[in-house]
Amino acid sequence: MRVVEKAAELERLRLELPVPVGLVPTMGCLHEGHLSLVRQARDDNNSLVISIFVNPTQFGPGEDYASYPRDEARDLTLLEKEGVDIVFLPSATEIYPPGFDSYVEVAGLSRRLEGASRPGHFRGVATVVARLFDLVRPGKAYFGQKDAQQAIIISSIAADLYPGVEVITLPTVREADGMAMSSRNSYLSPDERRAAAVLYRALSRARELWQEGEGSASNLRWEMTAVLRKEPLAVVDYVSVADPATLEEMETASSPALVSLAVKIGATRLIDNILL
Ligand code: PAF
Repeated sequence: MRVVEKAAELERLRLELPVPVGLVPTMGCLHEGHLSLVRQARDDNNSLVISIFVNPTQFGPGEDYASYPRDEARDLTLLEKEGVDIVFLPSATEIYPPGFDSYVEVAGLSRRLEGASRPGHFRGVATVVARLFDLVRPGKAYFGQKDAQQAIIISSIAADLYPGVEVITLPTVREADGMAMSSRNSYLSPDERRAAAVLYRALSRARELWQEGEGSASNLRWEMTAVLRKEPLAVVDYVSVADPATLEEMETASSPALVSLAVKIGATRLIDNILL
């Protein structure tokens, strides 16, 4: 496994890799969710590149860029065991050299849901993913369903700008109580961690009602909010039942529907979703 810090070196080594090349972009602090992407990418491709880069442009002012969990030594040990060919571990100036002022933006999809709560977030995500696609030129790139809107936006970028890249979205990996795995879960105190299970309970309630025949999206949103309000540590940012193609809120929850929510537990903002 080669650990590469320079973009020019990555481009040079990439030429020697047997194709197809799979790419798993990450911000590190790897958990089983990331490793499920790495394993699928390993199975699907002849070479595998993983990037670890806490991308400053996708964090807004006052967000957790400085405190975002980082553990490169542990990440590299985990990746070594997974048969990764190249780990790309750039500095911020390697990705954004002085004077860098060009950004990628998916106009409509980026403004809804997470984009409404975190202005500029998806511009940062789209830009770094485009930089990685340019450097690695993967045949397939892997993302988690946990960040559903991100996966939808990146699929749109690939369709518009990188037709050679197939975007693969893999299921959310969950803890025993249903809690979606996320690097940010490490911020939670034991009480907050217990409280955070309410996100999946709310999503599960929506699925249960929908399976019993509840088709009104506003009723599903109302029921999810009611579940969340029972948890004193939870502060709801949004609950949504949206069309996964446009991310517009639905009136009638017909399949496929993306049921998603963002909730603050203490100081930690968590997101999760299911597809109906
Ligand atoms: O999902 C993430 O970890 C990040 O948003 C990504 C896709 C690696 C871009 O920085």
